[in-house]
Amino acid sequence: STAVQSRSSRKLSTTMATTVKTVTTKEVATKPIDGQKTGTSGLRKRTQVFMSENYLANWVQSLFYALGDEIVGKTLALGGDGRYFGKEAAQIIIKLAAGNGFKRIVIGKDALLATPAMSALIRRRKLYGGLLMTASHNPGGPDNDFGIKFNYSAGEPAPESITDKIYDETMKISALKFGDLSDVDLSKVGVTAFGSFEVEVVDSVEDYLSTLKEVFDFPLLKSFMARKDFSMVFDGMHAVTGPYAKRILVEELGAPDSSLKDCEPSPTFNGGHPDPNLTYAEELVKIMWGDKAPTMGAASDGDGDRNMILGDHFFITPSDSVAMIAANAEAIPYYKSGLKGVARSMPTSGALDRVASALKLPFFETPTGWKFFGNLMDAGKCSVCGEESFGTGGDHIREKDGIFAVLAWLSILAYKNKSVPEGGKLVGIKDVAMEHWNKYGRNFFSRYDYEEVDSAAAASVMDQVRNIIASSPKGTKLGSFTVDAADDFKYVDPIDGSVAAGQGLRFVFADGSRIIFRLSGTGSAGATIRMYIEQYSNDPTQYEKDAQEALAPIIKVALELSQLEKFTGRERPTVIT
Ligand code: G6P
Ligand code: ZN
Repeated sequence: STAVQSRSSRKLSTTMATTVKTVTTKEVATKPIDGQKTGTSGLRKRTQVFMSENYLANWVQSLFYALGDEIVGKTLALGGDGRYFGKEAAQIIIKLAAGNGFKRIVIGKDALLATPAMSALIRRRKLYGGLLMTASHNPGGPDNDFGIKFNYSAGEPAPESITDKIYDETMKISALKFGDLSDVDLSKVGVTAFGSFEVEVVDSVEDYLSTLKEVFDFPLLKSFMARKDFSMVFDGMHAVTGPYAKRILVEELGAPDSSLKDCEPSPTFNGGHPDPNLTYAEELVKIMWGDKAPTMGAASDGDGDRNMILGDHFFITPSDSVAMIAANAEAIPYYKSGLKGVARSMPTSGALDRVASALKLPFFETPTGWKFFGNLMDAGKCSVCGEESFGTGGDHIREKDGIFAVLAWLSILAYKNKSVPEGGKLVGIKDVAMEHWNKYGRNFFSRYDYEEVDSAAAASVMDQVRNIIASSPKGTKLGSFTVDAADDFKYVDPIDGSVAAGQGLRFVFADGSRIIFRLSGTGSAGATIRMYIEQYSNDPTQYEKDAQEALAPIIKVALELSQLEKFTGRERPTVIT
């Protein structure tokens, strides 16, 4: 390897006093590594793969090549969800950033930053972008997954124009440029300078908390949480939101320590699967369906962008959650002048549509993937958005936001209970849902996931569904359901006109019910088939029905038309949400 000076240090040494020490760059030869294609949520692979020689460095260097000269002299944020290998990865990334001309790194203490906190940090400090070391809700540890993703200057996930370029670079990479630095102590807040290059370790919560304080009425939430007839449990699932919950719920809002469950981040998430749903957050589910269940239960995923909201013996589907937050936006100060518009992903239930139409709000239906909301938010057309995949958020940042959802629901409860005296009949999570359904009707919703299906079998299922679509014009009967439209969802972005085709096979029936089939874009082994089922009811005697029971007839139609069992051999789904 040869030693040359980095571009930034060359520039600095000619423009600044000669007493400023510069960072020396060491070039290390490398070779392209197969399979470094960045997915929608970054690059996710087995941890051992990431730890193997140059795997991480190759991708990060390729990103820096893809971004080109614009990174010189800029500040890059860095953090992660605390999973195994994160701290070592951070040291590698810091050296590459120095060697490629960045002027400064802002990194969360102990290399921790939740995904929404990263988005807030980039926006508040007007940073160039940020790197997140996370594989989201995938299990962590030496035998599980690691991942990395890039967020750009508005705090949004990298657009495809960048991720495509990264991939091209990974296939022709030949040199890594490392700044010649020692490891940085990431356990203490403060600045370490290496000549003109600086690493600033920051509190992981501070900037994000400032953003949340602009959205919510913290004093109101604090006084609500002090009520003796209110209690909650937040499950950090041993992942990154633990320190956030401690700081925000306990230190800022006064919740007792006993309201925190599994809020110590662990590099292996304590062997768990940090995905907040009824299957993987089973301990929280047990508490919320137990005797003396708290008023509210909530959980967040590995990197803190997903959320699940529960009440006493009650589950709020993510599709309902976004609709109910939008319908009750007056409870949140940030929305006091009204919502600019709302959006949901295509497979998400139509509960939000009904709120939008009642409140006469601009409404958008996007493909699966948070990135599709970004343009709408940047254009001032969307204030609240959500996905059935446990994603809820707003335009305060450009990522979905688990803690936002928790504070939004606390705000709704605080608002609804303003005139309920302590010890009176507290309005709970279920009451909010019942009130909503009584006004708008209920969109029963369920998703069946078939994980690690053989890819060819999954393709056959999709082909079969495509065939049924082709032979099902408007008016066709499928079981007792009459087709209104059946197609492969295509999205034309209303802001920039870009087109995303092939985004999900859907049947929309005359009564508003829907059946949708998609292949997941985030699985790591084989194919994951997702089957989404929705049926609307405005019959109040049905509202308390279990979704599986209410949806049984339409689920049967979906399974029959797709011949899913025949093609995959699967009698039942891996996960039902
Ligand atoms: C990630 C993305 C979401 C997406 C979800 C499910 O969490 O950030 O936007 O909805 O994955 O995607 P999939 O393609 O697996 O259904
Ligand atoms: Zn996540």
